Amino acid sequence: MQTILSGLCLAALAPAAACSGIQWRACPEGEFNTTVAVQCGTLRVPLDYTQPDSSKTLDLELVKIPAAVQPSRGSIQLNFGGPGQPTRQDAVALGPLLQVLSGGEHDLLAFDPRGTGKTARFVCTADTYYIGQMIAEMRSGDDSDTALRRLWERGRVDGRICQQQGNGNTTAEFIGTAFVARDMMRVAEAVDPDGLLRYWGFSYGTTLGATLAAMFPEKVDKMIIDGVQNPHDYYHSHADFEEWSDMDSSFSTFFTSCISAGPSKCALARLGKTAAALEADVWAYFDTIRARPLAAGTSIFDLLAVKSFAVEQLRSTAFWPEFAELLAALVYSTEAQQRAYLDALMSQLESEKLLGPAAFDGVQSLFGIHCGDRTVRLPAEFGEEAEATFERLRKTSRLIGDNVAHITAHCAQWPWRAKETYMGDFKVKTRRPVLVASNTRDGFTPLRSAMNVSEGLEGSGLLVVNGTGHAVLNTPSVCSFKAIAAYWKNGTLPAPGAVCESAPAFDGYSWANVIEETKAAGLGSPEKRELYRRVLR
Ligand SMILES: *[C@@H]1O[C@H](CO)[C@@H](O)[C@H](O)[C@H]1NC(C)=O
Ligand SMILES: *[C@@H]1O[C@H](CO)[C@@H](O)[C@H](O)[C@H]1NC(C)=O
Ligand SMILES: *[C@@H]1O[C@H](CO)[C@@H](O)[C@H](O)[C@H]1NC(C)=O
Ligand SMILES: *[C@@H]1O[C@H](CO)[C@@H](O)[C@H](O)[C@H]1NC(C)=O
Ligand SMILES: *[C@@H]1O[C@H](CO)[C@@H](O)[C@H](O)[C@H]1NC(C)=O
Repeated sequence: MQTILSGLCLAALAPAAACSGIQWRACPEGEFNTTVAVQCGTLRVPLDYTQPDSSKTLDLELVKIPAAVQPSRGSIQLNFGGPGQPTRQDAVALGPLLQVLSGGEHDLLAFDPRGTGKTARFVCTADTYYIGQMIAEMRSGDDSDTALRRLWERGRVDGRICQQQGNGNTTAEFIGTAFVARDMMRVAEAVDPDGLLRYWGFSYGTTLGATLAAMFPEKVDKMIIDGVQNPHDYYHSHADFEEWSDMDSSFSTFFTSCISAGPSKCALARLGKTAAALEADVWAYFDTIRARPLAAGTSIFDLLAVKSFAVEQLRSTAFWPEFAELLAALVYSTEAQQRAYLDALMSQLESEKLLGPAAFDGVQSLFGIHCGDRTVRLPAEFGEEAEATFERLRKTSRLIGDNVAHITAHCAQWPWRAKETYMGDFKVKTRRPVLVASNTRDGFTPLRSAMNVSEGLEGSGLLVVNGTGHAVLNTPSVCSFKAIAAYWKNGTLPAPGAVCESAPAFDGYSWANVIEETKAAGLGSPEKRELYRRVLR
């Protein structure tokens, strides 16, 4: 059906506007576990945009959350980051909130980017023996004095496994970010009469957004990129150095916020110590785990695990009270007590499939996409350049630098390159201005990266929230809600230099609070009240 429609459009030489290239239908039973109305559709795109005459194609499976307020003012395409993460399930899960924030007047659209989920998923191996080895050897670089060298060799061996056992020879060149950007333009042309792009991207999705803006500036109607990566680093560096540059200060903020919140809200504050003393205790505990890893659930709780767990808590302050309780319990207890806490914790993570082979799917896709996108490789022999790269990562962040060394080791020796890479400087004037958003303390994507990208995108605005967490979406405030809504409604940009305040961490302030407050302020229409009700439920 889909191909026939596209064929008709082509035959008639109709402008893209005249062709709705997508037949929307009910989504397959049980595909999305949601009460939100969703529709599904398929769009066929070229596998290889550098070969216009090739007949090889790829089917993009799209999910649409139709605008609550009809008629729709056009589609907003979504990407929540990675690379390597499929997008559709997250789009459906976050759809109600994003609809509220965008005023409910736009359809929200998502497809799994190439290399992930349902779209040419990149697979290194399906053999559980090799997957087990890859996972087991994914260690922190400061785990031992041979860890880095071993990671380096692991990178080489995994590249070999991906080549010999995986689908890399038929996928790896075609799953780069530039091709995903072209897919998104195909989608924009197929779904909306104006054929223009509206896009909302987070984290790695901001590199995708910057790439879209740079490759198709005249097609950008509206775009928010939130939690911004430095795209220069993403493509042309041996590691995403800048990305991690506020990780350690964000970690310190956890302790200072705990003391500010006081003993009634933060368990660690009950110990009568200063923030600096608490942080020192936690680092000493990490050292203990490094020397004495513990069996927990059916995993080993080691340096990589304990630091990764801490890193995860810095995405959002929402779970800081629980994190403080866990640290208070772990850091100041006997090994036997720790084993009990950790068994419970790791069993929970395992049951949520956050550990084990299922969690490894995303890592294989990440190698496939990110390593293929990287324009630089290191000499194959572990030498000065590799050591200097790892050293710089370590100096950038004590908390995560050594934990992401394995990505550098893999990408530096990766056997493939994306067939197309955007090689420009990200300096463009888009048709309408882009809104660039960042928190002041984001351990994953610092404010300086948002400023870097904003400087390149002529006329872009900057939404800054004074708060801690990964992306403004993770630091709810009435101020940022109004800024986001005004942008989607009217294209309005925040005043230069304006900063939104966020609620203190440990107060449990959420988007539900924001919605309650803005409702009270009379911002809601009947359709929006229905939207709000859905999010609050
Ligand atoms: C669907 O979501 C509900 C509510 O969150 C949950 O209880 C249920 O287990 C989910 N079902 C599946 C199949 O994921
Ligand atoms: C992929 O290509 C490499 C290099 O040409 C080759 O050694 C390998 O066997 C191929 N893999 C598969 C699965 O065909
Ligand atoms: C953005 O970051 C890149 C890579 O670090 C750097 O080369 C470039 O000068 C920066 N641009 C601006 C405007 O700061
Ligand atoms: C940001 O918030 C902190 C407290 O969380 C406050 O000390 C600081 O003054 C604020 N900065 C700005 C620029 O508003
Ligand atoms: C959009 O602009 C109109 C007209 O200026 C104004 O009344 C409305 O409040 C604005 N909407 C938002 C969400 O800022």
